[in-house]
Amino acid sequence: MAEIEYDLAIIGAGPGGYTAAIRAAQLGMRVACIEKESQLGGTCLRLGCIPSKALLEATEKFSVAREKFGAFGIQCDQLRMNLPTLLARKDKVVETLAQGVAGLFRKNKIERFVGTAALTGTDQLHITGPTGDSTLRARRILIATGSAPMELPALPFDGTRVISSDQAIALPAVPQELVVIGAGAIGLELSSVWSRLGAKVTILEIHHTTLPGADDEMGRGMERALKKQGLMFHFAVQVIGLRSENGRVQVRFVPRTATAGKGESSVSADVVLVAVGRRPYTRGLQLERAGVRVDQRGRICVNQHWQTSAPNIYAIGDVIGGAMLAHKAEDEAIAVVERMAGKAGHVNYATIPAVVYTAPELAWVGSTEEQLREKNIAYGVGKFRFAANSRALCMDETEGLVKILFDRENDRVLGVHILGPQASALIAEAVLAMEFSASSEDLARTCHAHPSLPEAVREAALAAQGRTLNS
Ligand code: NAI
Repeated sequence: MAEIEYDLAIIGAGPGGYTAAIRAAQLGMRVACIEKESQLGGTCLRLGCIPSKALLEATEKFSVAREKFGAFGIQCDQLRMNLPTLLARKDKVVETLAQGVAGLFRKNKIERFVGTAALTGTDQLHITGPTGDSTLRARRILIATGSAPMELPALPFDGTRVISSDQAIALPAVPQELVVIGAGAIGLELSSVWSRLGAKVTILEIHHTTLPGADDEMGRGMERALKKQGLMFHFAVQVIGLRSENGRVQVRFVPRTATAGKGESSVSADVVLVAVGRRPYTRGLQLERAGVRVDQRGRICVNQHWQTSAPNIYAIGDVIGGAMLAHKAEDEAIAVVERMAGKAGHVNYATIPAVVYTAPELAWVGSTEEQLREKNIAYGVGKFRFAANSRALCMDETEGLVKILFDRENDRVLGVHILGPQASALIAEAVLAMEFSASSEDLARTCHAHPSLPEAVREAALAAQGRTLNS
């Protein structure tokens, strides 16, 4: 039997894999990380969260300059967007962060392998790389291979007309007509980017509202806000295919449920973005050779300590069940590695925030009203609109609200939902509050700087107490 070469071999260098590698090295393990791409960082850094945020940030600045600068007294008559510069800056942000991860690998003495890993046993991997093949042994293996865009059978990806988010962050020109299938996080964020740059965007969604997992009131608020920005929606529809017409594409769709008098419709597009979810990425891993089981949806089955059905093989992130979020993978990475080192790693899945980076942003943590009703939990609601927040008014960002859901029996906060400016930052206070099992009274009694956006969170908590001051 060959000698064990590593304490831990990690497959995938996304937020799950690279975080695990760093934490394991900090804990004294000898770590190998195998990544098929030459750039570290995984989907989040290379193709997802980071490039999309770079584009969202730039295009939001552009649309604010166009729509609001006049009212602020700022005159700029020659406003134009230079698309190549925008895309190059996005690439630079990605490259800077990828280099940062590479630097952290060097600093922590993590050994990096470029190539595709396949399991050849419960402690052995085969790596097929650009400079040849290699084999390595490790006491433990952690699979953090993430996910890939899901394809619609009626609309297979071709990379130019029918694209996934991978291509939608790098379109060489602004499409005249963009059809987006799916009103989830990716659909809404990338619709916002290209709509702000001048594309006519139509979104086709199978569900009856945007963001099916979000609180219904918030999803509808988001829909209203985006419609005002010019996005068009068709809800409760099923896409059945494409038709080519005069060099353009017609996306064909029908009502999801038979509706009297409603038959097939179509909408024309020069680009169709399919954003209907992601699937776990396990291609080439040869899980069966090591006895690693997957469920019916292809997700690797793990126990509460992220152990798979194979001894010494673990899995975290998008490739297992749960929310497909970078920060969920990061938390799992730290916890699983700490457990390997005999520490008490733990993830509180009840306090993982979700954010959609549109304008306004939507962020939430904990339960939605729909979930509480389904569980028959007696809950109360405290709400505060940004229209009554002085800082939001100064910023001219008054759309949206904060909604706090609390337990009627003991006042404990059960969920916080924020549609409004900087919701992605504001939600952190709510996450911390829930992590410490705060009551709405705790939030209401906490001093908040004036004037500031977080005051809206406190006011919603005051509303939960029946004593809001500013509305
Ligand atoms: P998603 O699951 O968030 O949304 C997919 C949407 O497509 C849903 O609204 C669904 O009802 C709809 N849909 C499904 N099948 C359809 C069909 N045949 N026709 C029309 N609509 C259909 O998935 P998405 O947006 O692709 O994102 C993938 C993953 O990445 C998600 O887990 C998401 O949470 C995560 N993500 C998170 C972001 C963030 O935190 N800001 C940003 C982007 C992605």
